[in-house]
Parts: sequence; structure tokens; C-alpha cells
Amino acid sequence: MSVDLHQMLPPYRIKVVEPIPFLSPQERRAALAEAGYNPFHLRADQITIDLLSDSGTGATSAAQEAAAALGDESYAGARSWFRFRDEVHDLTGYPHILPVHQGRAGERVLFTGLLKPGQLCLSNTHFDTTHANVKLAGAEPRDLPCPAAFDLDSPDPFKGNIDLDALTRTLTGPERDRVGLVLMTITNNGLGAQPVSMANLTAVRDLCRRHEVPFFLDAARFAENAWLVGQREPGYQDWTPRQIATHAFGLADGCVVSLKKDGLSAIGGLIGLRDDDLHARCEANLIATEGFSTYGGLAGHDLERLAQGLREVVEPGYLRARAASTARLARLINEAGVDTVQPAGIHALYLNAGRLLPHLSPQEFPGHALGCQLYLDGGIRCAELGSLYLGGMDDQHRLVTPAPFELVRLAIPRRVYTDTHLEYVAAVLADIAKEPGRVSGYRVVSSPPLLRHFKVRLAPIPAAGSTD
Ligand code: F0G
Repeated sequence: MSVDLHQMLPPYRIKVVEPIPFLSPQERRAALAEAGYNPFHLRADQITIDLLSDSGTGATSAAQEAAAALGDESYAGARSWFRFRDEVHDLTGYPHILPVHQGRAGERVLFTGLLKPGQLCLSNTHFDTTHANVKLAGAEPRDLPCPAAFDLDSPDPFKGNIDLDALTRTLTGPERDRVGLVLMTITNNGLGAQPVSMANLTAVRDLCRRHEVPFFLDAARFAENAWLVGQREPGYQDWTPRQIATHAFGLADGCVVSLKKDGLSAIGGLIGLRDDDLHARCEANLIATEGFSTYGGLAGHDLERLAQGLREVVEPGYLRARAASTARLARLINEAGVDTVQPAGIHALYLNAGRLLPHLSPQEFPGHALGCQLYLDGGIRCAELGSLYLGGMDDQHRLVTPAPFELVRLAIPRRVYTDTHLEYVAAVLADIAKEPGRVSGYRVVSSPPLLRHFKVRLAPIPAAGSTD
């Protein structure tokens, strides 16, 4: 038997399933038009394969559901809280743990307690809600990704790293007194699901210590980052993913975590802290806005699922199979002639739509056009990460500053789709790649001033010579 096949084998079998919808091409066309050509407005029951997000979309295990049945819903001091707290403490080592209902709630509570108006928050890349919450705290988010991140085809193993030279310059330059926080996102969701090396995290820790700046992790995908470190970084081959993750948490002064990803649950998050005063400030805010500090907006059954999920997510067999499944999808897609950001990460693949659809200008939103085509042809939903999401627009909703890349993210929910589902995704893409010229562009019809991609409405631009 091939070793490869053995390594790809998921260490679980399926016990509970739900049907997925299959619409006709006409029904999909009508559904997308009704949704204003924005896949965020589709109903889930109009979607065959949903790759919009890996957040809160995973399958739970029998052990998680069994634990959930034991959930203690006492208002304060519930048994489930102590189980969750002990699990998180063992994994992260932080003396103070605060539960929150999801990552962005943790960001708001943490930044309100940590950042002062006018301060700078430096990051390899802020996720969009993180960016928004830094700004809501009156501070300024600034991304300092490493130069390799901008070469989509480079096989550099750690394109999620922060640019250490740029970080050093900022910490020693004229703005040094403004720096209030360095926040490392592992893995780097904003830039191709690329991991951050332990060498990079260690160097950031040393710089932050020297310049007395707090260093935190946004660790939504801490287990996937740990797996990629074990595979790619010399010196970590004999470490377990859990040991690597614990070591990463140990380098930082604290963390904020969306547990909707590597918590293997539909909801949840946490803040981990070392500093007593910061903990007191965050706890007061948490109690006023999320819930008492032994539940933080979560039910006892959620805390139970999370405690068990945090054990399962660092199992090598699970991570190996998940990484292999994403890598296999990347291979199938690349063989079909569609480029993806290299090397493949784990939670998502990023399609290079700009390169696949050179007949569309950024003003016609090639990433969005590819995403819509995947829905029209195959009922597949995904998210654009290009000029529609990141570009600058004028009052007439015309694009004036294109994004650096026109990407589409295929996010892979955990333990949900089999390799056959993913083969189907690759086959739909392969058909588009055979005749990319038939993909038409889009124009914006209406757009809100904030968080555009959620609410924007568009219309297709008929191809030249078309009678549509
Ligand atoms: N940080 C990162 C790196 C994230 O990817 C997310 C969410 C958050 C923070 C916020 O967490 O959703 O629990 O409030 N990412 C999802 C995604 C939404 O699809 O990538 P949340």
C-alpha cells in the first residue's frame, strides 16, 4: 500500500450526516441574481459545497457531543468552565483565561484594555475584524508582512512571517513611542493561509522584550500553524503539534483566539493573559459586555465541546489528514491550470483569479467573477479577496485603487467534506479553466460605506457581442 494513501486517511469515520442541496443551473442563476450577485446573500440551502469560511463550520465528534450532554449551565463557577479553563491553561500556559463568544469579542475586550488612542498595532497581517477592532480602540493597525508574501508563486515555507527589518525600524524609529502592541496572526489568514515560523516568533519576542512592547498572538489556527512548523522548520521534526503550539503560546505575553476554527466548535473564543492588571481591566469589560468571567457569552455545553475539541485538534493523525486533503485539492487545481498561492496552507486555498481571467480588468472584479462562476457552474460558494474586498472606490462605486492581487479563497471546513467533494470542486474549476473567456465581469450597483463585501450588490457586465 502506498504510504501516501495511509497518511491521507482521516482518523475518524462519519456518524451523522446532513443532505446537501443540488439546484439546477437555472435555479442557481435565479438565486444569484436574487442575491444581488453577492454570495453572502445566498441562502445556505441554495449551496452545494460551501467554502465561504472555515469558521464555525466544522463537524463535531461523538466525544464532543457526549461532553456537551454533561454541560453545566450554572450561572457562575460551572463545572464546564473549570474543564475548559484547565484544558486551555495546559495548552497555553497563560495564568489568566477569559472565555468569549467568538474571536472578535475577544479582540474588542483586549484592545479596549490594552491599546491607547493614537497608538500603533503592528502585525504580520491583521484579519479584517482585528483591523476594525484596533481602529475602534482609537489605535492604528499596520501590517508588516515579509517580502516573500508578495510573491504568490514563491515556495518559501514561511510566507506568514512578519518583516523583522520593518519591525525593527518601527520599534527604533521616530514612531517608536507610539507602538502599543505587536500582534502575530498564526496562520496568516489575510495572506494565503501561510504559516509563521518559530524563528520569526522568537525574534519578535526578543524585539518586543528589548523595546518593552506587549507581544500577543491571534491564534485562531494555532494547531495548523504548529503542524506546518513541524513539517517545514528544521529542529521541530520530533516535536508533537501540541508541544509546538504550547511553545508558541509561551513566547507571547498573551493571546486572543477565535475557537470557531481550531476549537473544532461552532462558537467560542478566549483571551489568554499573563499581566494581572490587564486581566483585571479585561475582566471588568467582559462582565459588562459578554457575560460573567466563567462563561463569557458561552453556554456550558459550548465550553465542554471546546475543551474536547482543543484535545482533538492537535492530534497528529487529524492534522496530517487535513493538510494532505488540502494539498491534494491544490494539486488537482494546479494540474487543471489554475494557480493557487504557493505553498498550499491548510485551512484554505487562494486562487489566482487575476492570472486565470486576464481579459477582466480589476475594475471588473475578476476574483468576484470567478467566485460567481463557481456558484453558477457548480453551486460552490467562496469568498473574493481582491479589489472588491480591499480596493479603494469613489462615490460612484467605481474602483480607483485596485488590490495588489485578485484572489478567491476556498476555505475548507474541518471534517465536513470528503475528498470526493473536493474533487468535484477541482472539476468545476477545471471546466472554467478550459474556457476562461466565458466568465463575465461585474460592476457594483450599491455599496455600504463600511464592511463592503458583506452588503455590496452587483450586476454582471454583458460580454461584448452578447445579447444577454
Ligand atoms: N482572527 C483571524 C485570523 C480570523 O481568521 C478570524 C475570523 C478572526 C480573528 C475573528 O474571529 O470570526 O470568531 O470573530 N475569521 C473567519 C474567516 C471569519 O472566515 O476567516 P471570529
